[in-house]
Amino acid sequence: MSDTTERTATAFANPNIAFIKYWGNRDHELRIPASGSISMNLAGLETRTRVRFDSNLSADTLTLNGQPAAEAARARVARLLDRVREMAGTRARAEVVSANNFPTAAGIASSASAYAALALAASAAAGLALDEPALSRLARTGSGSACRSVPGGFVEWQAGTTHEDSYAFSIAPPDHWHLVDCVAVVSTRHKTTGSTHGHALAPTSPLQAARLEDAPRRLDICRQAILERDFEAFAEVVELDSNLMHAVMMTSSPRLLYWLPATLAVMRAVERWRAEGLSACYTIDAGPNVHVICLHEHHPEIVHRLKAIPGVEQVLTATPGGAARLLDEPAASNNPRSLQNLPGQYLRS
Ligand code: DP6
Repeated sequence: MSDTTERTATAFANPNIAFIKYWGNRDHELRIPASGSISMNLAGLETRTRVRFDSNLSADTLTLNGQPAAEAARARVARLLDRVREMAGTRARAEVVSANNFPTAAGIASSASAYAALALAASAAAGLALDEPALSRLARTGSGSACRSVPGGFVEWQAGTTHEDSYAFSIAPPDHWHLVDCVAVVSTRHKTTGSTHGHALAPTSPLQAARLEDAPRRLDICRQAILERDFEAFAEVVELDSNLMHAVMMTSSPRLLYWLPATLAVMRAVERWRAEGLSACYTIDAGPNVHVICLHEHHPEIVHRLKAIPGVEQVLTATPGGAARLLDEPAASNNPRSLQNLPGQYLRS
């Protein structure tokens, strides 16, 4: 790309929920994980990001949900833009405008959809046509879990040991299995310890080595259960994997205890419901909210029951989502300071 051109691209990505979790890095800088992971993209929850490279800009700027972003967030985005500039051979700075259609405070990991959409929009705006593995690698350097929001449906991130071999790919399309993620929101307070810091603490837990040693077995069981749509096997390994990650969190130094009383209430209820014959299981990320994964036919009942649990503030639902993709630029897209080109629902939060 020549430094005198001005180019814009807009991309869209879903966040994802991990069934086999990423927690701990082999390489922090490049976000090469200590083990592989498996996830599902979440349709209905979306990030849209527009990137405009302009040689007249003196610095990269970032607008998030209509507000100028904090310096730490801007600097993290600028690091990914540096990679894109290096690949494209340009020095032009960029204006980045990004918005989510889901409340940031709901505890859905927005960094996954944010960096998947950013990688795609930035590389396209810089004139690069990256293939899916290359895009997944680029997104990974911004946020590890973002590499899994690049391909569609049910996705595996092969850990690898280098930048080249650490990327995600689809293991089944979205319509392969009609699962629903019912997110029981028990707190909308911002978490005290973010994932990036948490990954660095993982090796301080005496349990992390055992968790990593057993990871290939859990990945095999989960992959197979998804491919065979075997909910019983899936439920057991998903809950085991979530509990193992939280055991590591709780025993790291300093310890991380994300659960609230309502978190545990939901976990116990889901166990009971499964024993009664409902196909549902729980998984929890770095926060107190509980993702209850269930078969589509059981989801109205699950949502109804979740809402009745004291401490559950709201329940969001999502079905398997597709790959990150570029959006056509509307004709009126050349007012970079406004969010007018993003649909209204993106401006709410
Ligand atoms: C608990 O991808 O958010 O959600 O690379 O530092 O941005 P960074 O970490 P991030 O970690 C995700 C942690 C998790 C588990 C998972 O999604 O696999």
